[in-house]
Amino acid sequence: MATMTSLIGLINKIQRACTVLGDHGGEGLSLWEALPSVAVVGGQSSGKSSVLESVVGRDFLPRGSGIVTRRPLVLQLHKTEDGQEYAEFLHIPRRRFTDFAAVRKEIADETDRITGKTKQISNIPIQLSIYSPNVVNLTLIDLPGLTKVAVEGQHESIVEDIENMVRTYVEKPNCIILAISPANQDIATSDAIKLAKEVDPAGERTFGVVTKLDLMDKGTNAVDVLEGRSYRLQHPWVGIVNRSQADINKNVDMIVARKKEREYFETSPEYGHLAHKMGSEYLAKLLSQHLEQVIRQKIPSIIALINKTIDELNAELDRIGRPIAVDSGAQLYTILEMCRAFDKVFKEHLD
Ligand code: GDP
Ligand code: NA
Ligand code: MG
Repeated sequence: MATMTSLIGLINKIQRACTVLGDHGGEGLSLWEALPSVAVVGGQSSGKSSVLESVVGRDFLPRGSGIVTRRPLVLQLHKTEDGQEYAEFLHIPRRRFTDFAAVRKEIADETDRITGKTKQISNIPIQLSIYSPNVVNLTLIDLPGLTKVAVEGQHESIVEDIENMVRTYVEKPNCIILAISPANQDIATSDAIKLAKEVDPAGERTFGVVTKLDLMDKGTNAVDVLEGRSYRLQHPWVGIVNRSQADINKNVDMIVARKKEREYFETSPEYGHLAHKMGSEYLAKLLSQHLEQVIRQKIPSIIALINKTIDELNAELDRIGRPIAVDSGAQLYTILEMCRAFDKVFKEHLD
């Protein structure tokens, strides 16, 4: 676990360096795109936002019945070492949110700013960073739900528009997909699994998540799905019990919700034997392990990219002359030094 924290911490440093590089029109962006992210995919109200919140361990996403998530939310988690916990939006730089209810309100307001108070969807993402001692460093993407028909106030093309938008995120080979299927609907016809299968046919980067196990019809259960017999994926399926709408209305907090979820599995006649492989915390753990593996595999190509950037920066510095004063050359020089430092640390992580 300690190695992973340092490894992913390193990745976040790289991401920051890349933003700097990107600002200079360098190769930075492709480096940023080489790193993994996690996106949720599923039908409307399947529990996508709830699952993301559980993985993060904080209440901050707008949730509820109906089309709540109407813009992609790109969420960068940063683990802090000094105990600080706050959130920051890209569109409101330097304002630190410490009240997570205010974060949720800002997401909703910022959604409305672009789409109006309509049922319209926008593909312009909202970018949010959360700093907390209780997270692993990770980029998560909350997406609008896949839908089968346009409703009043939506364009006819909405069904395809949403699917295309979601696809642009999940088709990236470095996107880990949380394919969310509610247990009270037929998983064979799950929109999430359908799209995941299309972009990741081998199931290598898809995690099947079954929500709403508590809402299944009496006498039915999801054991065949959870044990991988109904639909095979490379990774194990994880069953989840999120907060119900009644829980949300009663402001049941995350700690209580997790405790209830654990108890649900431990005392369940159907799922008791799977209890240690079920629930939000287990899903978060699986994801971390997978990320570590993916990042380790990527290190050689990241080193190659950094070296390319170093070469380009050197060429640029040669062209403008080595810097003496505080000018753009000095900035380039700093970036070059950063790249060298990253290169060194990455190489140390290779073994
Ligand atoms: P999204 O539209 O896919 O992002 O789904 P949300 O996370 O907004 O959840 C939609 C509704 O389903 C909310 O009212 C949640 O409380 C409810 N919900 C989500 N997951 C579960 C679950 O596992 N059990 C129960 N009982 N309700 C859930
Ligand atoms: Na919803
Ligand atoms: Mg949502």
